[in-house]
Amino acid sequence: MPDSLWPRWFAPLLLSALIAGCSRDPVPAPVAPAPPSASRVDAAALASLGRDLFFDASLSSPPGQSCASCHDPRWAFSTPRDRMNAGMAPGADPARFGMRNPPSLMYASFSPPRHLDPVRGTLVGGLMHDQRADSLEEQALRPFFNPVEMANTSAAALLARLRRTTYAGTFGRLFGRGVLADPATAMQAVAAALAAYQRSDAFAPFSSKFDAVTEGRAAFDASEARGFDVFRDRQRGNCVECHSLGDAQGWRALFTDFSSHNLGLPPNRASPFYRMPATINPDGTGFVDLGVARDPQRAGMEGRFRVPTLRNVAVTSPYMHNGVFASLGEAVRFYTTGCLAGNPDGWAQPEVAAGRECGQIGRLTLTARDSADLVNFMYTLTDGWYDPKTGLPGPMQVVPGSQRFGAGAPTSRLITTSSN
Ligand code: HEC
Ligand code: HEC
Repeated sequence: MPDSLWPRWFAPLLLSALIAGCSRDPVPAPVAPAPPSASRVDAAALASLGRDLFFDASLSSPPGQSCASCHDPRWAFSTPRDRMNAGMAPGADPARFGMRNPPSLMYASFSPPRHLDPVRGTLVGGLMHDQRADSLEEQALRPFFNPVEMANTSAAALLARLRRTTYAGTFGRLFGRGVLADPATAMQAVAAALAAYQRSDAFAPFSSKFDAVTEGRAAFDASEARGFDVFRDRQRGNCVECHSLGDAQGWRALFTDFSSHNLGLPPNRASPFYRMPATINPDGTGFVDLGVARDPQRAGMEGRFRVPTLRNVAVTSPYMHNGVFASLGEAVRFYTTGCLAGNPDGWAQPEVAAGRECGQIGRLTLTARDSADLVNFMYTLTDGWYDPKTGLPGPMQVVPGSQRFGAGAPTSRLITTSSN
């Protein structure tokens, strides 16, 4: 949604809640002292409160929608496919749709603070497809007040809902009595709790087959191994150029370098956002998502979106910020032929043609087998393949067929626990 639609009070509230940070709050609470900084609050208790908030469907207007409605743990914290309409999730008002495909929240906490990489000329880090949020704390309050999401119209309205929850007392215990009396302090506490939950292990289990293989507990099958080679080979897939393996955690690859690019993706004409009323989409069918450059300070970055992690990508279809691709095979096909002269595959014109990156991308020399192998490799990035604590098979392996679909027989190899 255009940022001009944010309620006027929201920006100052967000700023006072977040910039004031841990120092004195500009709006003194009548009873309580300023909330203690998040670091002084017990981290586990804070994450647990965040969990309560995350799954609470009484905090939307009308009630019925929680963060988990669009970020469901059973779908790697993305939206269940049967709830989506052409890649978009309905809001608390089921007739309203936003303009982007809800991403998985898994591993989101690893995105570094937003900064410019002067060498590559790209914006790195931050949250959201267009990198407009700086931190999980800053992001956490937005959905509550977004008219196409949880749709509260004021902090007071959200506070009234919070005070009626079964866990309202936890706020007092963690932040001091009266924290729910004042909008700014209450919002700061909500943001801290939701961010703490999203930094918990539930969002970063590193329990995929890929992890098992890199830890020496399992082996890829032949197709997966070839797919990993294609993924890394600079001459073939070169996916690692952006979905990088290296990170501060060594082997714990995140499959993104958090930079942003314009892949020249076609628009998703089936998106219900095009048909939203002018209050939500003033541009109607002429709507173009400028991505990073929606921020006027980022002119020149039109059509760029942040590289997503590929962890759990097998369970988060459809793909891309606009949900234009239904399958991984389609995405790989676009990387292979999207920029070929004469457009043999008949791809629709890019949503944002200016600044489109057509180098190696869009002209890969992959055989049909390379593409199938690449998809099979991406299926190994699904968490729940094993239990990192015991090494025993997890649900992804135990439920037949859940490991991967399509090419080849879904043979799930059991982890050899004897080696550790
Ligand atoms: C109606 C669906 C919906 C609801 C409800 C919702 N979200 Fe989201 N969420 C989205 C969409 C869509 C995006 C991508 C928005 C964009 O990039 O412009 C997103 C993006 C995010 C991101 C950024 C992830 C990243 O990797 O950049 C975070 C974090 C997030 N949501 C957390 C939450 C929290 C916390 C709540 C509850 C307070 C919530 N969301 C409620 C749809 C939803
Ligand atoms: C130049 C950087 C770059 C390279 C190289 C690259 N990607 Fe991407 N990838 C991106 C960006 C940016 C996005 C998100 C685009 C968007 O949403 O508009 C993305 C998105 C994806 C998605 C969708 C994920 C989701 O959750 O929606 C898949 C799948 C994917 N890439 C696979 C690959 C594969 C496979 C390769 C190698 C053949 C590859 N990518 C090479 C930058 C790159």
